[in-house]
Amino acid sequence: MLDLQTQMKYAVAQAAVEEIKDGMVLGLGSGSTAALMIQAIGTKLAEGELTDIIGVTTSFQGEVLAAKLGIPLRTLSAVDHIDLAIDGADEVDSHFQLIKGGGACHVQEKLVASLAERFVIVVDSTKLVECLNLSFKLPVEVLPSAWRQVQNNLAKLNGIADLRMAKCKAGPVITDQGNLVLDVSFEGGIQNPEELESEINNIPGVLENGLFVNMADEVLVGEITNGVPGVRNLEKLG
Ligand code: 5RP
Repeated sequence: MLDLQTQMKYAVAQAAVEEIKDGMVLGLGSGSTAALMIQAIGTKLAEGELTDIIGVTTSFQGEVLAAKLGIPLRTLSAVDHIDLAIDGADEVDSHFQLIKGGGACHVQEKLVASLAERFVIVVDSTKLVECLNLSFKLPVEVLPSAWRQVQNNLAKLNGIADLRMAKCKAGPVITDQGNLVLDVSFEGGIQNPEELESEINNIPGVLENGLFVNMADEVLVGEITNGVPGVRNLEKLG
């Protein structure tokens, strides 16, 4: 029997795949929920329920999985548009502002999302928050040589930044681009995501941060009601 969170992830991944039409160029997100979505696309392709799709992945994780499932892939630079991008998130507020980057993939995820005509987020209900960054730290990808300098500059913005350390490897997490990740907490959470997103990206040595502001078009939420998994379309405030 799958745990409740995994059941919610399955349900929401399945619901998002229903939005895919034959012939679409798709942005394929990263993380455990996005991986279930890629699996579901692979199954539909294999069963002939989807044809002529092209995937653009956002990580090495997605590339390996999609290739194994036989999903035709192109690189980001080989496409001039993406019809629909589907991705997970670490936190979502009621204005559809997001924190992403729990899997350290937010650089490519933001590139793909910003090229997509439609950006759909798939989360389980544990990811919904009233205020961003109260419980999940904001990931910031930095050039390895600049991490201390960026850490000090983040402190000037009242951010406490920890270098993300690897598991099963000595030393820090290295991103798909060969960089490091700082995970940042701002006391009291993030009150103005739009302003903070550009302030952080203006620090020399920062590649990208995990705030996705005014990007999501739709948020699908997997939840359990009376023991049964289902999916809700989150209503956007403001
Ligand atoms: C990776 C991401 C993921 O989408 C995010 O971490 C959510 O992952 P999961 O679905 O495993 O909870 O942003 O960089």
